[in-house]
Amino acid sequence: MIQTSTNLKHIKNFISEDQLLVYKNKIKETFTTIYEKRGAGNDFLGWTTLPSEMTKEFIKDIKDQAELLRKKSQVFVVVGIGGSYLGARAVIEAISHQFGSLLNRADDTQIVYAGHNMSEEYMVELLELLDQKDYSMAVISKSGTTTEPAVAFRILKNHLENKYGKEEARTRIVAITDKAKGALKTLANEEGYKTYIVPDNVGGRYSVLTPVGLLPIAVAGIDIEELVNGALAMETYCKENQNCDNVVAQYAMARQALYHDGKTNEILVSYEPRLHYIAEWWKQLYGESEGKEGKGIFPASDTFTTDLHSMGQYIQEGLRNLFETIISVEKPTKEIRIPLADNDLDQLNYIAGKRLSEVNRTAETATILAHVDGGVPNIIIQIPEISASTIGELIYFFEMGCALSGYMLEVNPFDQPGVEAYKKNMFALLGKKGFEERAEDLRKRIE
Ligand code: PA5
Repeated sequence: MIQTSTNLKHIKNFISEDQLLVYKNKIKETFTTIYEKRGAGNDFLGWTTLPSEMTKEFIKDIKDQAELLRKKSQVFVVVGIGGSYLGARAVIEAISHQFGSLLNRADDTQIVYAGHNMSEEYMVELLELLDQKDYSMAVISKSGTTTEPAVAFRILKNHLENKYGKEEARTRIVAITDKAKGALKTLANEEGYKTYIVPDNVGGRYSVLTPVGLLPIAVAGIDIEELVNGALAMETYCKENQNCDNVVAQYAMARQALYHDGKTNEILVSYEPRLHYIAEWWKQLYGESEGKEGKGIFPASDTFTTDLHSMGQYIQEGLRNLFETIISVEKPTKEIRIPLADNDLDQLNYIAGKRLSEVNRTAETATILAHVDGGVPNIIIQIPEISASTIGELIYFFEMGCALSGYMLEVNPFDQPGVEAYKKNMFALLGKKGFEERAEDLRKRIE
C-alpha cells in the first residue's frame, strides 16, 4: 500500500483528454523499456530494485557504522556534490528538527556539508566550527575524481589529522566511491579507510538509497529502515501497476503533455520549509536527466507562503510558460493553535482557535485556485504526513517519474554530458596537464 497520490484536476482547463492520451498510450511501453532495460542508459537502472534488494545485513552494517561515528562526533561532515550530497541533505532536512543545531541535545550529531562549493569563506568558517567540535566525516564521490569534494577533502583531512593524529583521524573517515576506479578509491585503499561502494549501475543523482545517502542519513539519527520500506512500497506498487492510472505515471504524463503545450518551466512547490532540500534534490534529478539535446522542462522550486511574497507576482501574471507541482502534506505531526486576543488589535480573532496548519492549508487551496485562474496549471502530489516512510516513497516516486518522463521525451535520463563543459574550462584555466590547447583558446577569449 502506498500513501502518495496524484491529482490532475487542476491541469484539466489547460490540457485536453486527447493531449493526455498521447502519453497515456506510451506509458505501458515506457515501463517495459525501463523494466526490460531496453532504453538508452540501461546500464544505470540499478536504482529500480535498490529497496527490494537491500539486505538486513547491509542495513545493519550501515547502522553500526553510523552509531560508531555518532558516538564520537558532535558534527559529521558530508563531503560531496550533486548526487553525492543532495539526496542525503534532502532526507536529513526533511526529517530532522528544524532548529536541531541550536537545541544542543547531548546525543545529537549535527550534519554539515562541504565539497559542494569552492568558497574559501565557507571553508574557513567551517574549519572555525570544527576547531571547537569533535567531528568525523564521509567523503563521497562516485567517480572519485570530482574537483570540489577532492579539494575540500584534502583540506579537511589535513585539519582532522592535525587535530587527532593520523591513526585516530583514519577511524573518523569513511569513503564512499566506486569499487575500483578513481583517485578517491586509491587514496582510501592507501589510507585504510572504511569504504562503501556506489554500485556501478546506479548514477549519482539516483544514489540516495545506496551508502551515498544512507550512511549520512543514519548518522543524523534517522530510521533508514523506515525510509527504505517507504521506497520499497513504491517500488512494488510501480512494478505491479505499469499503467496510466499509476500515480507516478500520471505525474510523468501530465508533465510531458504540459511541456509539449508550451509549459516549459516546472516549479516544485511545498508549504513546508523542511522540504526545501527535497526540491533541491529534485531539481538536480530532473534538470540533469531531461535537460539535453535542446529539450527538457526547466526545474525550479519555491517554498510557499514565503516565496509568494517574492515569486508570487511573476507566477500569477508573468510569462505563461509555467506549471506548478505541489507537494501537499495532509497533516503536520505537531500542533499549535492561534490564540484569542482580548483586544483583537491585530484583527486576527476571526481565525483564533484554528490550527496554524488549517491556515497554511487554506493558503495552499487559495493559491492553487488563484494560480490556475492566472493561467498556471497545477499538479498535486499528496502525502499524508512527512515521515521517513513517506519521504522514502517520494524518492522512488520522483526517480521513476523522471525515468518515465525522460524516456517519453526521448532523451537518455541517466547521463549528463553537459556537466563536463565547465570542468574542462576550469582544468584548462587552472593549468592541469593535458588541457594546454584549450587553455590557450580560452585565454584569448578572456583577455
Ligand atoms: O548525477 C550525477 O551523476 C552527478 O550530478 C554527480 O552526482 C555529481 O557530479 C558528483 O559526482 P561524483 O559523485 O562522481 O563526485
